[in-house]
Amino acid sequence: MNRTQVAIIGGGPAGTLLSHILRRHGVESVVLERRSKEYVLGRIRAGVLEQGSADILREYGLGDRMDREGQAHDGVYLAYRGGRFRVDFRELAGSSVMIYGQTQVQKDLYDVVDAEGGVIIDEVEDVRLHGLTDDRPAVTYVRQGVEQRMECDFVAGCDGSHGVSSSSIPDIVTYERNYPFGWLGILSETPPIAEELIYANHPRGFALCSMRNPMLSRYYVQCDIDADVSDWSDDRFWEELAARLPDDAVTSLVTGPSIDKSITPLRSSVAEPMSHGRLFLAGDAAHIVPPTGAKGLNLAISDVVYLSRALVDFYASGATRALDAYSDTALARVWKAVRFSWWMTTLMHRFEEDGSFGPKVQEAELEYLSESPAARTAMAENYIGLPL
Ligand code: FAD
Ligand code: DHB
Repeated sequence: MNRTQVAIIGGGPAGTLLSHILRRHGVESVVLERRSKEYVLGRIRAGVLEQGSADILREYGLGDRMDREGQAHDGVYLAYRGGRFRVDFRELAGSSVMIYGQTQVQKDLYDVVDAEGGVIIDEVEDVRLHGLTDDRPAVTYVRQGVEQRMECDFVAGCDGSHGVSSSSIPDIVTYERNYPFGWLGILSETPPIAEELIYANHPRGFALCSMRNPMLSRYYVQCDIDADVSDWSDDRFWEELAARLPDDAVTSLVTGPSIDKSITPLRSSVAEPMSHGRLFLAGDAAHIVPPTGAKGLNLAISDVVYLSRALVDFYASGATRALDAYSDTALARVWKAVRFSWWMTTLMHRFEEDGSFGPKVQEAELEYLSESPAARTAMAENYIGLPL
């Protein structure tokens, strides 16, 4: 039989960061991950780290490669009606964001966990949680056909949107909004179109130009909810992207073969509460946001910061106050990011059901943003990340 202090379900960014922070504070944990390490490290997802997220990674010794290979961006462009304007984060909110892919964050986390003797058990199946309202919870799982049992003091549910942890909370309430479209995203080994991100509102639908490094670009276009990747050749993607961007940007667009192409549906979902007895949810296990505000990964990091502080507090003094408050503390920040993601999604996408009225209101709001430093400041504060 095995025993640890904190059993962590899920080895994505939330689970591995939690394990690493706890270890740095002398708290033991074991991470149980359903997929293989290769699979987890191969996933391509988010690209933007808030200032606070980057600072946390630095504080826990994960900043070296990020500061060498990542790019600090002081602003973004918003494009509409054939032109674009810039939202200057540094001028308006005194800070910036870091462009550094989740794939790299995940690799840095696995490297440091391995180097410091942390335990990630991958390819586990049939994870089940037991005794969550007792003093001695346990997790059972199957690995290579053998059932195992891990006793622990606490369970951290970091198992993403399709995990088992949230379903172990009785009376959980889920608040949801499903958007009637998705994002078709590609990665290509080409120089980015611009030095900063471009978010474009266009009658044909939303487009986003992002990047990973000077020779790796990430582009997205709004697509039908039931679109099939196989219908989207690279040529069709590049044509559609170019049609949605301002002409002055298109002249700098360098196209090439895609090295990844996938569709993500857009939705918001928040589960309340984020704890039950000795189980605490963090990251996508508790909430999903549409990617427009670049908040998914950042929320996983802020949950983990709150949860690790509460657990460290408990092991240092026996105090349960921060653990008891965890769900409320995390949800207060989560809902503000949900609101911001909803706002940016609503501002930038084509909603068929809004007819001709919706785009007029969007254009008025974009014009207002372009004219009003106060409006841009509100956007900048949220984009760089609200305080932790
Ligand atoms: P995850 O990264 O999902 O990690 C959860 C882990 O738990 C996974 O490794 C999973 O295999 C494991 N797991 C699941 N069930 C079990 C189980 N039963 N037992 C054991 N392990 C289990 N955010 C943005 O900000 N911008 C983006 O562009 C963006 N693109 C995205 C594209 C996709 C396809 C997805 C799915 C998400 C995207 N996100 C994006 C969101 C962002 O990637 C997530 O918010 C972030 O990964 C959350 O981290 P997490 O650790 O909470 O969850
Ligand atoms: C990226 C993804 C986002 O959702 C976003 O808002 C900005 C950038 C990206 O993958 O680079």
